[in-house]
Amino acid sequence: MLQAELDASVANGSLTIETIGGVPSLRQTAEGASRSAQYREELTVFSAARASALAAVEVSRLDIERFIQEGVPDAEPLRHRLVRMAGIQPGMRVLDCGSAAGANLFEGGVLEMVGSTGCVVALDPAAAMIARLQQRARKAGYRNVDAVVARAESMPFAVGSFDVVIGSAFLRYTDLMRATGEMLRVTRPGGTIATVEAIEPDLGQIGWFRDWFAPAFDAAKRLGVPVSGRLPAPGAIAQALERNGAEAIEVETDADIRMNAVSPESFVFWMRAAGLLTGLVENLPWKAANDLWGELVERGRRVLPEVPPEERFLRWPVEYVRARRPATG
Ligand SMILES: C[S@@+](CC[C@H](N)C(=O)[O-])C[C@H]1O[C@@H](n2cnc3c(N)ncnc32)[C@H](O)[C@@H]1O
Repeated sequence: MLQAELDASVANGSLTIETIGGVPSLRQTAEGASRSAQYREELTVFSAARASALAAVEVSRLDIERFIQEGVPDAEPLRHRLVRMAGIQPGMRVLDCGSAAGANLFEGGVLEMVGSTGCVVALDPAAAMIARLQQRARKAGYRNVDAVVARAESMPFAVGSFDVVIGSAFLRYTDLMRATGEMLRVTRPGGTIATVEAIEPDLGQIGWFRDWFAPAFDAAKRLGVPVSGRLPAPGAIAQALERNGAEAIEVETDADIRMNAVSPESFVFWMRAAGLLTGLVENLPWKAANDLWGELVERGRRVLPEVPPEERFLRWPVEYVRARRPATG
């Protein structure tokens, strides 16, 4: 098998065999190096696509309103801050990326801000969430809400379609460069992009969490991958926006979000649906990941009752980022 791979790499010019000090040795050619870089790029795109496909499946099974209410009860002020930061005004055309069932639109106040003269478009790859959002908008009598099943990396909108593009807790599933590139593309010249995302925390610091999720930490160590993997590193979103040509980029890092561990089942499911273990899960075969979830729920039944109720939560640092599409170009 390995011999066949080596023969193929030599035959296609990626490797050459040279004799150094009487020992046959392999050397990567310039062509081979450029091919490897291309494969790495393609694997990154593939990983992001797999992560968001997994997320869309998980999120589709979630009673998201109940989970947000129980698990992340202080999400609403964060949404209001995002909406304020985005500078949404009556009459504007706003896009919410990774909208799920529309919490930013309804609880976050986007619909209220744009008023009856503005309109809102929601985008999410989880069809069940989009259906829920549409139903909610219909029930509440909104006629200025449109919702599409799509990924942020390839949006079905023309250049400059929106005054403001926002999104919360979704970039972790995306190929950051492509998603931020698309956000800029669909924003009108001079328009605003604003996001809020949880960023990579030090998960291992919290004793009960470390104990409960030990099998996940161990598996990640064995595989040599970070547990939460896809949560953007501090500054990564701003950097991606800058590389895509955004200007007036501002980052605010003074906030965090509390995630409650209400029950073993709901906490493990929430961790999974919120993509907080995605770095590990995307590196495991489907069955191994499912076995791991089962094991974590079982361990939670033992660990959680021993944690004092007032300590049953995690705090995740969040990062707000605002940027502008240049007025020209
Ligand atoms: C943790 S939820 C956040 C939902 C909502 N923005 C909120 O703040 O409550 C993440 C959402 O991102 C969506 N998502 C996953 N991959 C995506 C992608 N490639 N592009 C856009 N959204 C994606 C998921 O389907 C899910 O609805």
